[in-house]
Amino acid sequence: MKNSKVKDLLNSTKPIDEVSVKGWVRTFRNNQFIALNDGSVIHNIQCVVDFENTPAETLKRITTGAAVAIKGSLVESKGSGQKYEVQVTSLEILGDSDAEKYPMQPKKHSLEFLRENAHLRVRTNVFGAVMRVRSVLSFAIHQYFQEKGFVYVNTPIITGSDAEGAGEMFRVTALPAQNPPLTEEGNVNYKEDFFGKETNLTVSGQLEAETYAMALGQVYTFGPTFRAENSNTSRHLAEFWMVEPEVAFNDLDANMDLAEDFIQYVIQYALDKCKDDLEFLDKRLADEEKQKPMAERSEMGLLEKLQFVLENNFKRVSYTEAIDILKNSKPNKNKKFSYIIDEWGADLQSEHERYLVEKHFKSPVILFDYPAKIKAFYMRLNDDNKTVRAMDILFPGIGEIVGGSQREERLDVLQQKIADLGIDEKELWWYLDTRRFGTAVHSGFGLGFERLVLFVTGMTNIRDVIPFPRTPQNAEF
Ligand code: 4AD
Ligand code: MG
Repeated sequence: MKNSKVKDLLNSTKPIDEVSVKGWVRTFRNNQFIALNDGSVIHNIQCVVDFENTPAETLKRITTGAAVAIKGSLVESKGSGQKYEVQVTSLEILGDSDAEKYPMQPKKHSLEFLRENAHLRVRTNVFGAVMRVRSVLSFAIHQYFQEKGFVYVNTPIITGSDAEGAGEMFRVTALPAQNPPLTEEGNVNYKEDFFGKETNLTVSGQLEAETYAMALGQVYTFGPTFRAENSNTSRHLAEFWMVEPEVAFNDLDANMDLAEDFIQYVIQYALDKCKDDLEFLDKRLADEEKQKPMAERSEMGLLEKLQFVLENNFKRVSYTEAIDILKNSKPNKNKKFSYIIDEWGADLQSEHERYLVEKHFKSPVILFDYPAKIKAFYMRLNDDNKTVRAMDILFPGIGEIVGGSQREERLDVLQQKIADLGIDEKELWWYLDTRRFGTAVHSGFGLGFERLVLFVTGMTNIRDVIPFPRTPQNAEF
C-alpha cells in the first residue's frame, strides 16, 4: 500500500478504506489518541488506537517523538477539531523515543531553548511552519526570475575580491595554522597557499554577476554569503543567503521598480501557498504581542502587514530628504536616538531606518542617492559629485532588507574611485574589463533572504529563520 502524507489525508474529500501513514507522535492521549505529524503540513492527524486489542507493551512505546508506521482506514471524525481521523488497524513502532529525556516536550518552549536544540526544534509547529515558508519563498524567487527570463548564475564562494570593501571577510586557507610559510618581511606568504594568493569566503556575488549581466542581459545569483562582522544583533548572521539580480540597461528607477515588483511577487506567492502556516504564525505573533505593554504592540497583525506591503507602493525618498526628516524628528531633538543626526553625510543606523519606516512613513521605504562616502566603490556617481545612485529598501520591524545601486559604468570615473580608496586596480582588472569592452548602464541589488523570511513569518530573531545559524561564538551543529 502506498504511504500517504498527513496533508493529503486531511485534505481528502472522502473516507478511504485502507491508508498507510508514517510520522512522529506529537502526543498520545488516554491510551487511545495519537496526534501524528509527518512534516507535510502544520496540522496533525488524529489516529485512534484500538487499545483493547493492542498489546500493552506497544501502547507504552507510543511516546512523544516516537516514529511510527500506521495502517488503518480514514474515517469521518466523531470528535471536534478535525474532519477526518485514522482508525488504526495496525501500528508499528519504527523508532522509540525516551519520553523522559526528549527535549521537545509537548508544551511551549522559549525560542532561546529551541536555539540550543536546533537539530530538534524543527519538530515544533513554529519551526516547521517557518522552514516550510522559507522553502516556498526560495522557490518563488527562482520562479519570479525564471518567468522573466533571467539566467541563474552560480558565483564563486571562494573569492579573491572584496566586493563591499568593508573588509569583513573569512579567510580561506590551506596553510598550517602553526608556522605558516613567511615572506622576507615576516608576513604569511600566501604565494605558497593553495590558490597562490589570499582568498576569502565571498561577501557578495555582485562583481562576478555584473560580468555575466554584460553578456546575458538579466541574471541573478542566489547563494550563501559570509560576513565576519562582529555584530551580535537579531538581524545579522555570519552566514546568510543573498539574492542578487543584475540587469544590463536598467537605471536606478528601473532597479527600484524591479525590487518592488519582485518582493511583492514572492510575498503574494507565500500567501497563496502557505496559508495554514501563515495563519498559524499570525496567531503566534498576536499571542506574542499580547505579552508586550500596549505602547510597544505592533498596530498590524502578520497577515495584515503582508497584505499592506502588497497593496501599497513603497515610498521613494532621497537620502537628503530623509536626513531632514530625521534631523527634525522628536527622538532626534529629545536625544532619544543613540546616534544623533546632526549633519548631512551621516550613516543611517537601524534606529533611524526604523523611525522612517515605522513612525514617519508607516510604509516600506526606498531611500536613494546616498552620500558617496558611505557607500561601496562601484556605485554610479551623480552629477553633484557628492551622491551615488544607491538604494536601500527599508521594511517595518526589519530595517534594511535590500541594498542595491546603479553601477558606475564609466571606466575613468571608476578607476579614479578605486585609486581614491587605495584599492589596487590590478586586483580588479577583470571587473574593469566590463567597462573597457562594451560598457553600458546597468543596475542590481541584493536581498537578504533571511531578512525576507523574518518579515514574512513575523519572527523577530534572524537566528530563528535559518536552520543552523552562524553567529559570533556560535557554530554548533
Ligand atoms: O547591502 P549589502 O551589503 O549589499 C551588497 O552586498 C551588494 N553587493 C548587493 C548588490 O547590489 N548586488 O547586502 C545586501 C543585503 C542587505 O540589505 C541585507 O538584507 C542582507 O543583504 N545582509 C545581511 N543579512 C543577514 N546578515 C548579515 N550579516 C547581512 N549583511 C547584509
Ligand atoms: Mg547595505
